[in-house]
Amino acid sequence: MAKFPKGFYWGGATAANQYEGGWNEDGRGPALTDVTLGGTKDTPRMVTYVDADGKPGSYVNWGGRLPEGAHYAVLDDAYYPNHLGTDFYHRYKEDIALFAEMGFTMFRMSISWSRIFPKGIEEEPNQAGLDFYRSVFEELRKYDIEPLVTISHFDTPLYIVEELGDWKNPKVIGHFAHFCETIFEEYEGLVRYWLTFNEINGLVAFPLMVASHANADVEAVTDSYKALHHQLVASAKVVALAHERYPQFKMGCMLAGMVSYPLTADPKDQLGNLQLMQDAFWYCGDVQVRGHYPSYAKRIWRRFGLDPAFFEKDAETLAKGKMDFFSYSYYQSACFTTHRDEADESGGNVFRGATNPYLAYSEWGWAMDPDALRYSLNQIYDRYEVPIMVVENGLGAIDVVEEDGSIHDGYRIDYMREHIEAMAGAIADGVDLIAYTPWGCIDLVSAGTGEMRKRYGMIHVDMDDEGKGTLDRSRKDSFYWYQKAIKSNGEDLA
Ligand code: BG6
Repeated sequence: MAKFPKGFYWGGATAANQYEGGWNEDGRGPALTDVTLGGTKDTPRMVTYVDADGKPGSYVNWGGRLPEGAHYAVLDDAYYPNHLGTDFYHRYKEDIALFAEMGFTMFRMSISWSRIFPKGIEEEPNQAGLDFYRSVFEELRKYDIEPLVTISHFDTPLYIVEELGDWKNPKVIGHFAHFCETIFEEYEGLVRYWLTFNEINGLVAFPLMVASHANADVEAVTDSYKALHHQLVASAKVVALAHERYPQFKMGCMLAGMVSYPLTADPKDQLGNLQLMQDAFWYCGDVQVRGHYPSYAKRIWRRFGLDPAFFEKDAETLAKGKMDFFSYSYYQSACFTTHRDEADESGGNVFRGATNPYLAYSEWGWAMDPDALRYSLNQIYDRYEVPIMVVENGLGAIDVVEEDGSIHDGYRIDYMREHIEAMAGAIADGVDLIAYTPWGCIDLVSAGTGEMRKRYGMIHVDMDDEGKGTLDRSRKDSFYWYQKAIKSNGEDLA
């Protein structure tokens, strides 16, 4: 019996803000990532501004706030890694040819909202932006690669963030819907698979995990649940619109794959972990796939002092926006415990938890756990019974370029092999898994740290953390390995 069904989509995943570059070209407006500096594993990324007196300053991304009277600004002499990404904007033909050579049948990318609507609020779109994505989709189609398009991937236009208060403001729903209507109509014949928001649960999952579940900063999370509601409503609205006008479209949700285990057999750890998974993961999936808030939402709203009426008023809209498939990113698992004093803390990016003694950790502290992929695929499919895509997965690692230009990234091959085997296991368990698009199939800027040295790609890009390099592309060992894996539809993983 074949491990993967015929027609299974194999590919790779990227996001405009980390890959595309061309940040101020051809009429594109800025996004928050364009005023965000690079960091490292131990030093956070900073967001830059000028204050009311014109003095430059910065605050910690994911946690800090713009001071009263300040304005976001690109500061002189500072390096902003997302401005250039790894230059897909100018090199998309070369890159797509390489994806085709690897055998991709699907390519996940996002559309930069501010390339189409520079402030996010205009009536008329920026034609140059529309033309760019049209050329990209046509190039993909030339090689029979199916585009999988994320509509919003960490790049809300800066104007909306600064002037409208971001997703806390319900007005943003209408602007987002207009953006979607525009791109749906424009690319109706070129794109079939859409994801509305990247890692939509991140809005609550990240603050919950960063602040640690037990001592969460209640005010920050309260605001996040409200902003999240606006995104869930926006998503449901455009899904309903897509279903009504474009029956060929397949609409999917995209969640940050959280797999949290209870660290001990203490019943308090079991219950606490169940609640963490509900608060930070299932909450979004339940709304987006089932079309209504789950029963435990009342417990969450009570905990954060939120009025149920705020959420319940949109029940009809949510009911009309059910997803056709479920997608998520999966990199690592975490552990929850009420015995925090006795447990070591670990985690990477924004995922935090107690260290799992049975797992090895990556250079950036991410727990490597292929079993959790099979485990989560089973849980998700049991719950929703809709097709699933794993749209991000991979190992962020430092690669060494040898004298002859080769890159021997056996560690990445091992990681991918184990995760592909885990997916095969889930399929054998009965899960309807239809696609695998590992993250950063070509090297790009890290979202969490802004680094280039943290690489996920099977295609190397000559570029360092300071933006120095030729941007030349080359094939790593994993390129040839994945090519074989795809050609054999997941049979040949040697
Ligand atoms: C996911 C995001 O959280 O993880 C990507 O959707 C991100 O945008 C990826 O790049 C890997 O995280 P990082 O911090 O290593 O880039």
